[in-house]
Amino acid sequence: MIIFKLAVLILISALNFSLISCDKPKKPNVLFLLADDAGFEIGAYLNKIVQTPNIDALARRSLLFEKAFVSVSSCSPSRSAILTGQPIHQNGMYGLHNAENHFNSFDNIQSLPKILKNHNIKTGLIGKKHVGPSEAFKFDFEATEEQHSINQVGRNITKIKLLVREFLKNSSDSQFFLMVAFHDPHRCGHVTPQFGPFCERFGSGEEGMGIIEDWHPIYYQWEQVQLPYYIQDTEPARRDIAAQYTTISRLDQGIGLVLKELESAGRNRDTLVIYTSDNGPPFPSGRTNFYEPGMNVPLLMSSPDKKRWHEATYALTSHLDLLPTFLDWFDIPQQNLDENEVTSLTGKSLLSLLDHDPPNDDTTAVFGSHNFHEVTMAYPMRVIRNKRYKLIHNLYYESKFPIDQDFYVSWTFQDILNRTISKMGIPWYKTLKNYYIRPEFELYDLNKDILERQNLAYKKDFLKLRNEMEEKLKKWQEDTNDPWRCEPHAVLEDKGDFKGNPSCLTLAHDEL
Ligand SMILES: *[C@@H]1O[C@H](CO)[C@@H](O)[C@H](O)[C@H]1NC(C)=O
Ligand SMILES: *[C@@H]1O[C@H](CO)[C@@H](O)[C@H](O)[C@H]1NC(C)=O
Ligand SMILES: *[C@@H]1O[C@H](CO)[C@@H](O)[C@H](O)[C@H]1NC(C)=O
Repeated sequence: MIIFKLAVLILISALNFSLISCDKPKKPNVLFLLADDAGFEIGAYLNKIVQTPNIDALARRSLLFEKAFVSVSSCSPSRSAILTGQPIHQNGMYGLHNAENHFNSFDNIQSLPKILKNHNIKTGLIGKKHVGPSEAFKFDFEATEEQHSINQVGRNITKIKLLVREFLKNSSDSQFFLMVAFHDPHRCGHVTPQFGPFCERFGSGEEGMGIIEDWHPIYYQWEQVQLPYYIQDTEPARRDIAAQYTTISRLDQGIGLVLKELESAGRNRDTLVIYTSDNGPPFPSGRTNFYEPGMNVPLLMSSPDKKRWHEATYALTSHLDLLPTFLDWFDIPQQNLDENEVTSLTGKSLLSLLDHDPPNDDTTAVFGSHNFHEVTMAYPMRVIRNKRYKLIHNLYYESKFPIDQDFYVSWTFQDILNRTISKMGIPWYKTLKNYYIRPEFELYDLNKDILERQNLAYKKDFLKLRNEMEEKLKKWQEDTNDPWRCEPHAVLEDKGDFKGNPSCLTLAHDEL
């Protein structure tokens, strides 16, 4: 790895010397582009209708990940996991950070901006922060919902462009980590319905909507959208998707503007660019779920040295790998972090993928941990997914799967509700009943059943596999000190007589 990094530096120096010999070689930086609730509605991921020329162009200069997974499919938890390299049960950010939900990570958590500050790297966050406590995730420069309206810093791509320009100008002499966290294409029907279900009319120039000078809105026909398998084929759902596409196209144009700023500042030659999304789209089986639409997200990694540009990888990748990747890029060895800094990261740097894929390994797995979305939505789940199989452990399987406020008011969910109540039937791959009611364990063969409809967890032939996967999951929960690791049939005792010997003690559920 050190040899590789040296090679990168030499290459960058050489480039700088040959292209603009007056510039002194600069050290590498990171531009981290994070979308809000974005899925695979991108040309580069083979969506044929939605227009995303800027993300597609970035993809041609990137290694494109087909198998990148969040460790939790919920906004604040996912952002906290990205910024700490730890799953939510370890960093304490159990659910959404909003005032009424009040979730925060532990005060003394070591986060990426803190670590980078200690290593003299300038950090900036433009857009959605949505993690706390604020001091635990303090960037040198912040233009977020804490200082501005979220639509201005998260959806107004002209405003975002100007902020990025200023940050880059201020950083001309320093190494930087800039996170641009778009609020697009998040829904907004629940907070600002006047702008449409995805805020697709905000800044459109129509009466009362204001104008975003750099945005050229694209509107889509509901009959023409590319319907994913997990959304019912009805007019209200299709109209919802059409609105989502308009907002995705704004995100795309925003990314184009930000990348142009990077280029104008001359920093595209020494900056690693990563694009991903905090979780899957806000549709059934998407956000708040560990089914593939909730958990599998786009990820593009564009290295300035052109390594593996316009290639794809199927290597299993977790968002928990991002923090180790950033540290690796900045040459900050994990063992050099001071004792308060993150000590037990389970993720690993993705930089070696820029040279070649890892050897094919069926035992590699990614893991996830979900507790809440909104504060009322207690539905802890743990998941392990390897190349072929996924095992979900629903700890509160006896309660019904909860629905968040934002998704509830959507045309898609209202349509499912209306049709269920009036017994109309739904042209959908599930019923509301089997969406709400989930068994304790769900095991899917993703080679044969990517729709995750055939639960193998209770089939005799699969008991051995299920046990093996359960054990691996348990091991990861232990390694990451998961307080829920004995749930739901036992109690974790780890103090007093059990200090140093944490144990799961039975609740005798089997005897009832
Ligand atoms: C740029 O630097 C000025 C002067 O220090 C500061 O007031 C401003 O907030 C900085 N802006 C950004 C985007 O970094
Ligand atoms: C977007 O930001 C620009 C620059 O600050 C401003 O001129 C414009 O009015 C904003 N648009 C909206 C819809 O608020
Ligand atoms: C659902 O039913 C309500 C009440 O009849 C109606 O107002 C609403 O438009 C329907 N929504 C959808 C998406 O079908």
